[in-house]
Amino acid sequence: MSEESYRKSYESIVEKVWGIYAEAHPPVQPVRNPEAAHRVLKEKYKLLVDVNLIILVYAAFLDGRPVLFEGPPGTGKTEIGEALLTLWSGREAFVLPCSENYDEYRVIGDFHPLKAYKYGFNEKSFLPKPLLAAMIMDTGVLIDEIRRSNEEFQNLLLDIIDKRRIIVPELRMTFRASGVGFQFIFTSNPEDLAQSELSDAFLRRVVRIKFSYPDPERELEILRLRLSHLDVKVPEEIMSLSVEVVSRLRKEDLLYKPGVSDTVRWMEVSSRIASLKGKTRVDVSDVLEAAKAVLVKRVEDEESVLDIVESMIR
Ligand SMILES: Nc1ncnc2c1ncn2[C@@H]1O[C@H](COP(=O)(O)OP(=O)(O)OP(=O)(O)O)[C@@H](O)[C@H]1O
Ligand SMILES: [Mg+2]
Repeated sequence: MSEESYRKSYESIVEKVWGIYAEAHPPVQPVRNPEAAHRVLKEKYKLLVDVNLIILVYAAFLDGRPVLFEGPPGTGKTEIGEALLTLWSGREAFVLPCSENYDEYRVIGDFHPLKAYKYGFNEKSFLPKPLLAAMIMDTGVLIDEIRRSNEEFQNLLLDIIDKRRIIVPELRMTFRASGVGFQFIFTSNPEDLAQSELSDAFLRRVVRIKFSYPDPERELEILRLRLSHLDVKVPEEIMSLSVEVVSRLRKEDLLYKPGVSDTVRWMEVSSRIASLKGKTRVDVSDVLEAAKAVLVKRVEDEESVLDIVESMIR
């Protein structure tokens, strides 16, 4: 391939990427100062995030290191990861929910069968996928639930992250990251028994950040932040009670333990129930009704969960 035709093919792929992905990944004001990011996360994304966590993530990004958020369900890993990548790169992040059968054709690029038949395996038949698009657009990538992917895929990712380039052999082309916006956050829940272990090679490369359930004061603060938009208000004492209940449930031997996302949803549903009943404030009966729908996830847990909820909320 001559230099001129290489350049043309390269540019046509770059153009294709922007044509397909720009609309879903619009630019946003980048925020690379941790204190400022803390404020924007709270005001715009309604996420309460420690400044120290933001500093650690941004420090990793300055070094081109991927970050691993590890912790129990519903503690904000996915939402915080996506928001931080977006603020760092100044463009809506890519999110890849992992599946076992990911390979380079699904995440880097594939070929349109009819077009490949007609034109061959070249830029005309090439279909760029999210990882290549993110690299070309200098945007962050959230790889959600990394333990659900296979080891081959994890190795593929590490190679891309280490070298900051993607090779597409069929095109005989190499794409390189052009800026510092192309960064990675992985999420994982180590307590999920059905999932695989992450390899040492993988763990060596990532900056691991542990997520856990917030203390009650902080969870209450999250509730206030998340429930402020509701028409039918949840009284402060009910919010406090809900935090006590979930914190107790997390200590029990249950199959499903509520995350912060469940506390928020529980209170939201309570408020909606109250609203549909024409009330102006949430009361205990709405909260009990919502608990049955939101806090009980497994038949095996039902009795214990309801016993605890009913004994604590009267
Ligand atoms: N720090 C926080 N600030 C604000 N909301 C939070 C926070 N942590 C959790 N939440 C609540 O949880 C939801 C986000 O949960 P998210 O899905 O990101 O958690 P996760 O850790 O990725 O869970 P899972 O393991 O189930 O994927 C938010 O919509 C909000 O209701
Ligand atoms: Mg998640």
